[in-house]
Amino acid sequence: MESILVTGGNGFLGSHIANRLQTLGYRVRIFARRHGQQAVREEFDTVWGDIRDKEAVRTAVQGMDRVIHTVSNFRKGGSDKDEAHAINVEGTNNVLEACSEFKVKQLIHCSTIGVHGSVKEIPATETTPYNPGDLYQETKLEAELAVRKFAEDKKLPTTVIRPISLIGPGDMRMLKLFRMIQKGKFFKVGPCTAYFQPAYIDDVVEGFVTCLGNEKALGEVFIVGGEEYVPLEELFQIIADELGVTPPKIRIPLTPVLWMASLCETICVPLHLEPPLHRRRVSFYQNNRAFDISKAKEKLGYRPAVSLRDAIRKTIDWYRREGWL
Ligand SMILES: NC(=O)c1ccc[n+]([C@@H]2O[C@H](COP(=O)([O-])OP(=O)(O)OC[C@H]3O[C@@H](n4cnc5c(N)ncnc54)[C@H](OP(=O)(O)O)[C@@H]3O)[C@@H](O)[C@H]2O)c1
Repeated sequence: MESILVTGGNGFLGSHIANRLQTLGYRVRIFARRHGQQAVREEFDTVWGDIRDKEAVRTAVQGMDRVIHTVSNFRKGGSDKDEAHAINVEGTNNVLEACSEFKVKQLIHCSTIGVHGSVKEIPATETTPYNPGDLYQETKLEAELAVRKFAEDKKLPTTVIRPISLIGPGDMRMLKLFRMIQKGKFFKVGPCTAYFQPAYIDDVVEGFVTCLGNEKALGEVFIVGGEEYVPLEELFQIIADELGVTPPKIRIPLTPVLWMASLCETICVPLHLEPPLHRRRVSFYQNNRAFDISKAKEKLGYRPAVSLRDAIRKTIDWYRREGWL
């Protein structure tokens, strides 16, 4: 069976991909940052390192048949420009160089639907104009474009996947929203008419698996995730239903919340503190995220299996099992 390197293999998406590939019988290596005395995941051959470290990346890629690159500073709301660029763009360049040097058979680069920012065309597709709305999205776009150019110039077999917003076991990003709704402390911000499209983690993982070793995926970009999108108002209602609580009623205007977020960033970022509120978090209420996955369905036979409501239910089940809710 082939060997696959998953960069970011201890992250939310990366760990699910690594587990799935292991189940399918691939030889899996992960590339991850070590924090303090963090335990080694014995089931995986692990190369510890920082994606900004060329040599560490070379060590990880050497000897691998295929590479799935998921590292990103995704969870960091308040990272500065240099850090975001170094991780998302220069880190990706390190992966590209190493894949080319060691002639890997395929690089699957994990981009994001965020390259389209808040979409005007509903549902958006892979050809919808780019419209990155923050530093994360801008650097993810720069990385994706670098991957596609490098692939063309150096003839590196490459696939780009733009996952839709992930939820499921392991995700801590949406926990706050679920908790606040459960406690009846959630305030709706602004009109909540923007669309949101949660994708269940297993469905997104299957998107990566479907592209692996698939000739039809080479040189292509695919949006993967579930098919259903709903206005935020309806999303909050579904979450409340599944939690068995009353849906949130109180609404506060958007503008003062945006000012607060901006102020938090101005104070925290120079001090290298994670802001308690940042504009990217507020953009959750503003950005339209509604995407069409027809290309992956038609070209690859990709079929997401989990409905939006089931995705929310399964996520709640996991939060409860882990004692988070
Ligand atoms: N979650 C979503 O809704 C979503 C949607 C679309 C696309 N994506 C994309 O999916 C990918 C994975 O995201 P995720 O949700 O799984 O986020 P995540 O849990 O934060 O995973 C990102 C991983 O990257 C690692 N990383 C960050 N900086 C690094 C560095 N300098 N060197 C080495 N490793 C580094 C992190 O390691 P540490 O644990 O050490 O920080 C983490 O394991 C990202 O490319 C993201 O852009 C995510």
